[in-house]
Amino acid sequence: MEESGKKLDQEMDKEMVKEKDKEKGERPEESQAKLPEDKQEITEELRNLPLPRTRWEDVVFSFPQPIIEFGKGVVKNVPKAIFRLLDPRLMHIKKAEIERPEILIIIGHESVKKMGALDKILKSCEQNSIETVIFSCGKGEATVTMVNEAVEMALEEKVHFIVGIGGGSVMDVAKATAGIVTNGGLAEDYHEGKPFELPGLPFIAIPTTAGTGTEITNNAVLIDKTRGYKKSIRGSHLMSKYILLDPELTLDCPPDITASSGADALVQAIESYVSKKSHPLADIYALEAIFLIAPNLRTVFEHGDDYAARSEMLLGSFFAGIAFSNVGLGLVHGLAHPIGYKYDVPHGKVCGALLPCVIEYNLEYRADKYARIGRIFSQLNLFTKYEAEASDEKNTQRLASMIKEMFSQIHIPLKLRDLGVLKEDFDWIIENTKGSSVNSNPRTPDPESLRELLEKAW
Ligand SMILES: [Fe+2]
Repeated sequence: MEESGKKLDQEMDKEMVKEKDKEKGERPEESQAKLPEDKQEITEELRNLPLPRTRWEDVVFSFPQPIIEFGKGVVKNVPKAIFRLLDPRLMHIKKAEIERPEILIIIGHESVKKMGALDKILKSCEQNSIETVIFSCGKGEATVTMVNEAVEMALEEKVHFIVGIGGGSVMDVAKATAGIVTNGGLAEDYHEGKPFELPGLPFIAIPTTAGTGTEITNNAVLIDKTRGYKKSIRGSHLMSKYILLDPELTLDCPPDITASSGADALVQAIESYVSKKSHPLADIYALEAIFLIAPNLRTVFEHGDDYAARSEMLLGSFFAGIAFSNVGLGLVHGLAHPIGYKYDVPHGKVCGALLPCVIEYNLEYRADKYARIGRIFSQLNLFTKYEAEASDEKNTQRLASMIKEMFSQIHIPLKLRDLGVLKEDFDWIIENTKGSSVNSNPRTPDPESLRELLEKAW
């Protein structure tokens, strides 16, 4: 009786959602059909499984969060964000000191204009007497030159806020600009270790891709072409103060970028879940990210206009960002960093090609958590050749092959050689596989095992 009542409630909920969608004229019926029909029920069931236990008394963490808005059309809330940030309880800027707020909007290339997002921001700002200036970074990865030019414009125009709208590189340029405007100097100085001592200008992040999670992190990866390096600048003052997550902005993302950024998001969720520094609060975000990303990767790749799937991907990549910015990543990212520096290949593809081998390498060191991920994947019905019910041991053992199948569905190369990586560079890659991502990997690698791993992934 209770069971049939529950089913009736679920049916009614589904009907209500459909009615709501019809009213709004959103989410065509066709694209809804692409999602597994019983996904929600399975997910609910899986959510109720006990988490691998962590001892709270062993855990030390802090968990800073900006203000977050998520949902269709929230991109138009830039003025609302600005007026909230002008609240003296939140910011060092006092409202009385600013007669008319002025913002610098940092964009990537023309696609933001094409999707109409920029117009929405400009219109809503005009209606609220907020002045705007635009800095376009153009195409390509974030560079110190882009940041220095944006800082110059921000200082000349005496802006009070920075808004970044675009992919990971735009977020990085905007984040660094906001920090450097108040702290002074050039981007190169921060590469050399100059600290961010003062709070930056308030930075509002609006991502247009679901992947890097950089809207929530406290670092910016910048390329210095003159000195020949790609390095992070970092500081708690670089964190955005306000994040607007509008899934509509991701609808136009092309399949190739959707696939590589989506693969990156999944890798980030998995690596933070098994991280040595993981703790229960970050686990909640990492697991939820896996629930949101795994069943939608293929859907957004094949049906980019599926709003429901795009929403879950954007939220999933954001949750993965929250998780890894608190507990770090793992060996996939430890290796992807030097490989990404040496070869001009999308970061998400490098991560995708490495993940199955790194999982096999780490398996025994965090078997409980890998079993949990394997169980989620099995029960999500994403694969033709695996039955949904299997033992933890079986789920753990086949996790790497399930991930290979998942990535091949979205055309992520499964071998490093297909990305142009050369065996003769292995020594250099091994030498440069170091840093925080390696330190948070569940298994501490030595050069010999890294070589074996690279051989396998090649
Ligand atoms: Fe990544």
